[in-house]
Amino acid sequence: MSRSIKRIRKAVFPVAGLGTRFLPATKAMPKEMLTVVDRPVIQHVVDEARAAGIEHFIFITGRNKGVIEDHFDSQFELERTLAERGKNSELAILTRDLPGAGQTSFTRQQAPLGLGHAVWCARDIVGDEPFALLLPDMLHHAKMPCLADMMAAYQEHGGNLVAVAPVPEDQTHQYGIVGVTDPKAKVSAITKMVEKPPRGTAPSNLHITGRYILQPEIFGLLANQERGAGGEIQLTDSMIQLMEAKTQPFHAVRFDGDIYDCGSKIGFLTANVAYALARDGLGVELRSELKKLL
Ligand code: UTP
Repeated sequence: MSRSIKRIRKAVFPVAGLGTRFLPATKAMPKEMLTVVDRPVIQHVVDEARAAGIEHFIFITGRNKGVIEDHFDSQFELERTLAERGKNSELAILTRDLPGAGQTSFTRQQAPLGLGHAVWCARDIVGDEPFALLLPDMLHHAKMPCLADMMAAYQEHGGNLVAVAPVPEDQTHQYGIVGVTDPKAKVSAITKMVEKPPRGTAPSNLHITGRYILQPEIFGLLANQERGAGGEIQLTDSMIQLMEAKTQPFHAVRFDGDIYDCGSKIGFLTANVAYALARDGLGVELRSELKKLL
Protein backbone atom coordinates (compact mmCIF):
# COMPACT_ATOMS: atom_id res chain seq x y z
CA MET A 1 0.00 0.00 0.00
CA SER A 2 1.38 3.44 -0.89
CA ARG A 3 1.99 5.76 2.06
CA SER A 4 -0.62 8.23 0.83
CA ILE A 5 -3.43 5.64 0.98
CA LYS A 6 -5.11 5.74 4.38
CA ARG A 7 -6.36 2.47 5.85
CA ILE A 8 -10.13 1.88 5.99
CA ARG A 9 -11.05 1.21 9.62
CA LYS A 10 -14.68 2.31 9.81
CA ALA A 11 -17.85 1.18 8.08
CA VAL A 12 -21.20 2.97 7.95
CA PHE A 13 -24.51 1.08 7.88
CA PRO A 14 -27.55 3.27 7.12
CA VAL A 15 -30.54 1.59 8.79
CA ALA A 16 -32.96 4.50 9.18
CA GLY A 17 -35.24 3.77 6.21
CA LEU A 18 -38.94 3.10 6.74
CA GLY A 19 -39.03 -0.29 5.02
CA THR A 20 -42.45 0.45 3.56
CA ARG A 21 -42.23 -2.46 1.14
CA PHE A 22 -42.38 -4.84 4.11
CA LEU A 23 -45.33 -3.39 5.97
CA PRO A 24 -46.87 -4.55 8.24
CA ALA A 25 -43.79 -6.60 9.26
CA THR A 26 -41.77 -3.40 9.61
CA LYS A 27 -44.34 -1.41 11.56
CA ALA A 28 -42.59 -2.05 14.89
CA MET A 29 -39.56 -4.05 13.72
CA PRO A 30 -36.74 -2.72 11.53
CA LYS A 31 -36.50 -4.43 8.15
CA GLU A 32 -32.76 -4.87 8.83
CA MET A 33 -33.71 -7.30 11.63
CA LEU A 34 -35.67 -9.61 9.33
CA THR A 35 -33.80 -12.90 9.31
CA VAL A 36 -32.08 -14.67 6.46
CA VAL A 37 -32.03 -18.23 7.84
CA ASP A 38 -31.14 -17.53 11.50
CA ARG A 39 -29.25 -14.24 11.30
CA PRO A 40 -30.72 -10.77 10.90
CA VAL A 41 -29.93 -9.23 7.52
CA ILE A 42 -27.84 -6.55 9.26
CA GLN A 43 -25.73 -9.26 10.95
CA HIS A 44 -24.82 -10.78 7.57
CA VAL A 45 -23.61 -7.37 6.38
CA VAL A 46 -21.66 -6.63 9.57
CA ASP A 47 -20.01 -10.06 9.14
CA GLU A 48 -18.97 -9.04 5.63
CA ALA A 49 -17.44 -5.82 6.95
CA ARG A 50 -15.60 -7.61 9.74
CA ALA A 51 -14.22 -10.16 7.26
CA ALA A 52 -12.78 -7.22 5.31
CA GLY A 53 -10.91 -5.93 8.37
CA ILE A 54 -13.34 -3.24 9.56
CA GLU A 55 -12.78 -2.30 13.21
CA HIS A 56 -15.55 0.21 13.91
CA PHE A 57 -19.20 -0.21 12.96
CA ILE A 58 -21.32 2.94 12.64
CA PHE A 59 -25.10 2.56 12.45
CA ILE A 60 -27.36 5.38 11.27
CA THR A 61 -30.58 4.50 13.01
CA GLY A 62 -33.97 6.13 13.45
CA ARG A 63 -37.18 5.75 15.42
CA ASN A 64 -38.17 2.10 16.05
CA LYS A 65 -34.62 0.91 15.39
CA GLY A 66 -33.47 0.48 19.00
CA VAL A 67 -33.51 -3.30 18.68
CA ILE A 68 -30.55 -3.08 16.27
CA GLU A 69 -28.48 -1.53 19.07
CA ASP A 70 -29.65 -4.29 21.44
CA HIS A 71 -28.69 -6.93 18.89
CA PHE A 72 -25.08 -5.72 18.87
CA ASP A 73 -24.88 -5.55 22.66
CA SER A 74 -24.24 -8.42 25.06
CA GLN A 75 -27.33 -9.96 26.69
CA PHE A 76 -26.05 -10.75 30.14
CA GLU A 77 -29.05 -12.73 31.47
CA LEU A 78 -29.30 -14.85 28.33
CA GLU A 79 -25.56 -15.54 28.29
CA ARG A 80 -25.56 -16.53 31.96
CA THR A 81 -28.54 -18.85 31.48
CA LEU A 82 -26.93 -20.52 28.48
CA ALA A 83 -23.71 -20.99 30.47
CA GLU A 84 -25.59 -22.46 33.45
CA ARG A 85 -27.43 -24.89 31.17
CA GLY A 86 -24.23 -25.97 29.41
CA LYS A 87 -25.45 -24.66 26.04
CA ASN A 88 -21.92 -23.86 24.98
CA SER A 89 -22.34 -23.86 21.22
CA GLU A 90 -25.27 -21.40 21.42
CA LEU A 91 -23.21 -19.22 23.76
CA ALA A 92 -20.28 -19.37 21.35
CA ILE A 93 -22.53 -18.10 18.52
CA LEU A 94 -23.51 -15.08 20.61
CA THR A 95 -19.98 -14.21 21.70
CA ARG A 96 -18.52 -14.76 18.20
CA ASP A 97 -20.91 -12.22 16.69
CA LEU A 98 -20.49 -9.54 19.34
CA PRO A 99 -18.43 -6.49 18.34
CA GLY A 100 -15.78 -5.56 20.92
CA ALA A 101 -16.24 -2.84 23.54
CA GLY A 102 -16.18 0.58 21.89
CA GLN A 103 -16.34 -0.84 18.36
CA THR A 104 -19.87 0.35 17.62
CA SER A 105 -21.42 3.80 17.28
CA PHE A 106 -25.07 4.66 16.80
CA THR A 107 -26.47 7.98 15.67
CA ARG A 108 -29.98 8.90 14.62
CA GLN A 109 -31.18 10.26 11.34
CA GLN A 110 -34.17 12.19 12.64
CA ALA A 111 -36.14 11.98 9.40
CA PRO A 112 -35.61 9.60 6.46
CA LEU A 113 -34.53 12.28 3.98
CA GLY A 114 -32.60 9.86 1.80
CA LEU A 115 -29.46 7.75 1.70
CA GLY A 116 -27.19 10.78 1.12
CA HIS A 117 -28.56 12.45 4.22
CA ALA A 118 -28.17 9.23 6.25
CA VAL A 119 -24.49 8.99 5.26
CA TRP A 120 -23.96 12.68 6.10
CA CYS A 121 -25.21 11.93 9.64
CA ALA A 122 -22.03 9.83 10.12
CA ARG A 123 -19.64 12.72 9.37
CA ASP A 124 -18.42 13.41 12.92
CA ILE A 125 -18.06 9.75 13.83
CA VAL A 126 -16.13 8.95 10.66
CA GLY A 127 -13.99 12.10 10.88
CA ASP A 128 -11.27 12.87 8.37
CA GLU A 129 -10.61 9.40 7.04
CA PRO A 130 -11.86 7.17 4.22
CA PHE A 131 -14.63 4.75 5.14
CA ALA A 132 -16.67 1.85 3.84
CA LEU A 133 -20.40 2.13 3.32
CA LEU A 134 -22.60 -0.97 3.16
CA LEU A 135 -26.32 -0.90 2.40
CA PRO A 136 -27.70 -3.51 4.78
CA ASP A 137 -30.56 -4.68 2.63
CA MET A 138 -28.27 -5.71 -0.23
CA LEU A 139 -26.79 -9.12 0.56
CA HIS A 140 -23.70 -10.02 -1.47
CA HIS A 141 -23.09 -13.77 -1.50
CA ALA A 142 -19.71 -14.98 -2.76
CA LYS A 143 -16.64 -16.95 -1.70
CA MET A 144 -14.66 -13.71 -1.58
CA PRO A 145 -16.82 -11.23 0.40
CA CYS A 146 -17.55 -8.13 -1.68
CA LEU A 147 -15.99 -5.57 0.66
CA ALA A 148 -12.78 -7.64 1.00
CA ASP A 149 -12.56 -7.66 -2.79
CA MET A 150 -12.95 -3.88 -2.80
CA MET A 151 -10.30 -3.45 -0.11
CA ALA A 152 -7.82 -5.25 -2.39
CA ALA A 153 -8.71 -2.86 -5.24
CA TYR A 154 -8.43 0.10 -2.86
CA GLN A 155 -4.88 -0.87 -1.91
CA GLU A 156 -3.96 -0.62 -5.57
CA HIS A 157 -6.00 2.40 -6.68
CA GLY A 158 -6.91 4.38 -3.55
CA GLY A 159 -9.60 7.06 -3.86
CA ASN A 160 -13.26 6.10 -4.12
CA LEU A 161 -14.66 2.77 -5.23
CA VAL A 162 -18.14 1.38 -5.82
CA ALA A 163 -19.09 -2.25 -6.35
CA VAL A 164 -21.02 -2.84 -9.58
CA ALA A 165 -22.79 -5.71 -11.31
CA PRO A 166 -24.76 -6.02 -14.54
CA VAL A 167 -28.57 -5.76 -14.61
CA PRO A 168 -30.88 -6.45 -17.58
CA GLU A 169 -30.95 -3.41 -19.91
CA ASP A 170 -34.68 -2.87 -19.32
CA GLN A 171 -34.10 -2.41 -15.57
CA THR A 172 -31.34 0.22 -15.60
CA HIS A 173 -33.84 3.02 -14.87
CA GLN A 174 -34.34 1.56 -11.36
CA TYR A 175 -30.70 1.86 -10.25
CA GLY A 176 -27.62 4.03 -9.89
CA ILE A 177 -25.68 3.26 -13.08
CA VAL A 178 -22.02 3.85 -14.00
CA GLY A 179 -20.18 4.11 -17.30
CA VAL A 180 -16.62 2.74 -17.16
CA THR A 181 -13.53 2.67 -19.35
CA ASP A 182 -13.59 -1.14 -19.65
CA PRO A 183 -16.91 -2.82 -18.76
CA LYS A 184 -15.32 -6.32 -18.75
CA ALA A 185 -12.42 -5.45 -16.40
CA LYS A 186 -12.53 -6.38 -12.71
CA VAL A 187 -11.56 -2.80 -11.77
CA SER A 188 -12.19 0.06 -14.14
CA ALA A 189 -12.17 3.86 -13.96
CA ILE A 190 -15.66 5.39 -13.83
CA THR A 191 -16.41 7.86 -16.61
CA LYS A 192 -20.05 8.59 -15.82
CA MET A 193 -22.48 8.05 -12.98
CA VAL A 194 -26.23 8.64 -12.95
CA GLU A 195 -29.04 7.86 -10.48
CA LYS A 196 -32.04 6.13 -12.08
CA PRO A 197 -31.41 7.20 -15.71
CA PRO A 198 -34.56 7.52 -17.85
CA ARG A 199 -35.11 4.44 -20.07
CA GLY A 200 -32.71 4.25 -23.00
CA THR A 201 -30.20 6.76 -21.59
CA ALA A 202 -28.07 4.58 -19.28
CA PRO A 203 -24.31 4.75 -19.95
CA SER A 204 -24.05 0.96 -19.38
CA ASN A 205 -25.91 -1.85 -17.62
CA LEU A 206 -23.59 -1.79 -14.58
CA HIS A 207 -25.50 -0.84 -11.44
CA ILE A 208 -24.14 0.28 -8.09
CA THR A 209 -24.79 -2.66 -5.79
CA GLY A 210 -24.61 -1.03 -2.33
CA ARG A 211 -20.95 -1.33 -1.35
CA TYR A 212 -18.72 1.76 -1.40
CA ILE A 213 -15.33 3.00 -0.25
CA LEU A 214 -15.47 6.77 0.02
CA GLN A 215 -13.12 9.60 0.91
CA PRO A 216 -14.23 12.02 3.66
CA GLU A 217 -14.58 14.90 1.14
CA ILE A 218 -17.98 13.39 0.32
CA PHE A 219 -19.35 14.84 3.57
CA GLY A 220 -18.78 18.46 2.51
CA LEU A 221 -20.70 17.80 -0.70
CA LEU A 222 -23.53 15.99 1.09
CA ALA A 223 -23.91 18.95 3.43
CA ASN A 224 -25.07 21.10 0.50
CA GLN A 225 -26.73 18.41 -1.56
CA GLU A 226 -30.20 19.31 -2.81
CA ARG A 227 -32.97 16.75 -3.08
CA GLY A 228 -32.75 14.61 -6.21
CA ALA A 229 -34.55 11.52 -7.56
CA GLY A 230 -37.66 10.65 -5.51
CA GLY A 231 -37.37 13.94 -3.57
CA GLU A 232 -34.56 12.38 -1.48
CA ILE A 233 -31.00 13.57 -0.80
CA GLN A 234 -29.14 11.16 -3.03
CA LEU A 235 -25.64 9.88 -2.32
CA THR A 236 -25.08 9.37 -6.05
CA ASP A 237 -25.56 13.10 -6.74
CA SER A 238 -22.71 13.99 -4.35
CA MET A 239 -20.53 11.19 -5.71
CA ILE A 240 -21.03 12.64 -9.21
CA GLN A 241 -19.79 16.03 -7.98
CA LEU A 242 -16.76 14.44 -6.30
CA MET A 243 -15.98 12.49 -9.46
CA GLU A 244 -16.41 15.49 -11.76
CA ALA A 245 -14.03 17.56 -9.61
CA LYS A 246 -11.35 15.09 -10.83
CA THR A 247 -9.36 15.51 -7.63
CA GLN A 248 -9.64 11.85 -6.62
CA PRO A 249 -9.76 8.54 -8.50
CA PHE A 250 -13.16 6.84 -8.84
CA HIS A 251 -13.23 3.16 -9.75
CA ALA A 252 -15.87 0.48 -10.22
CA VAL A 253 -15.15 -3.01 -8.88
CA ARG A 254 -17.15 -5.77 -10.56
CA PHE A 255 -18.76 -8.10 -8.07
CA ASP A 256 -19.03 -11.65 -9.41
CA GLY A 257 -21.25 -13.34 -6.80
CA ASP A 258 -25.00 -13.31 -6.19
CA ILE A 259 -26.84 -10.23 -4.94
CA TYR A 260 -30.16 -10.33 -3.10
CA ASP A 261 -32.13 -7.15 -2.55
CA CYS A 262 -33.64 -7.96 0.84
CA GLY A 263 -35.58 -4.69 0.73
CA SER A 264 -37.88 -6.40 -1.78
CA LYS A 265 -40.05 -9.41 -0.95
CA ILE A 266 -38.76 -11.52 -3.81
CA GLY A 267 -35.12 -10.74 -3.03
CA PHE A 268 -35.62 -11.48 0.65
CA LEU A 269 -37.39 -14.80 0.03
CA THR A 270 -34.81 -15.87 -2.55
CA ALA A 271 -31.97 -14.96 -0.17
CA ASN A 272 -33.48 -17.18 2.51
CA VAL A 273 -33.65 -20.14 0.14
CA ALA A 274 -30.16 -19.54 -1.29
CA TYR A 275 -28.45 -19.10 2.10
CA ALA A 276 -30.28 -22.09 3.57
CA LEU A 277 -29.39 -24.33 0.60
CA ALA A 278 -25.73 -23.37 1.10
CA ARG A 279 -25.82 -24.13 4.83
CA ASP A 280 -24.43 -27.44 6.14
CA GLY A 281 -27.06 -29.42 7.97
CA LEU A 282 -29.95 -27.55 6.32
CA GLY A 283 -29.44 -27.59 2.55
CA VAL A 284 -30.21 -31.25 1.86
CA GLU A 285 -33.42 -31.28 3.88
CA LEU A 286 -34.62 -27.97 2.45
CA ARG A 287 -33.96 -29.17 -1.10
CA SER A 288 -36.23 -32.17 -0.57
CA GLU A 289 -38.94 -29.98 1.04
CA LEU A 290 -38.75 -27.56 -1.89
CA LYS A 291 -39.12 -30.43 -4.36
CA LYS A 292 -42.40 -31.36 -2.65
CA LEU A 293 -43.64 -27.79 -2.95
CA LEU A 294 -42.67 -27.24 -6.58
P1 UTP B 1 -34.13 1.90 0.79
O1 UTP B 1 -34.76 2.98 0.00
O2 UTP B 1 -34.00 0.56 0.16
O3 UTP B 1 -34.88 1.67 2.18
O4 UTP B 1 -32.73 2.41 1.32
P2 UTP B 1 -36.30 2.07 2.67
O5 UTP B 1 -36.60 3.49 2.37
O6 UTP B 1 -36.35 1.64 4.09
O7 UTP B 1 -37.22 1.06 1.81
P3 UTP B 1 -38.75 1.13 1.36
O8 UTP B 1 -38.69 1.54 -0.08
O9 UTP B 1 -39.50 2.10 2.23
O10 UTP B 1 -39.23 -0.28 1.52
C1 UTP B 1 -31.53 1.65 1.32
C2 UTP B 1 -30.90 1.68 2.71
O11 UTP B 1 -30.69 3.02 3.14
C3 UTP B 1 -31.33 3.24 4.39
C4 UTP B 1 -32.37 2.14 4.53
O12 UTP B 1 -32.58 1.82 5.92
C5 UTP B 1 -31.78 0.99 3.76
O13 UTP B 1 -30.95 0.18 4.58
N1 UTP B 1 -31.90 4.59 4.41
C6 UTP B 1 -32.68 5.02 3.39
C7 UTP B 1 -31.65 5.42 5.49
O14 UTP B 1 -30.94 5.03 6.44
N2 UTP B 1 -32.20 6.66 5.50
C8 UTP B 1 -32.98 7.12 4.49
O15 UTP B 1 -33.43 8.28 4.56
C9 UTP B 1 -33.22 6.27 3.40
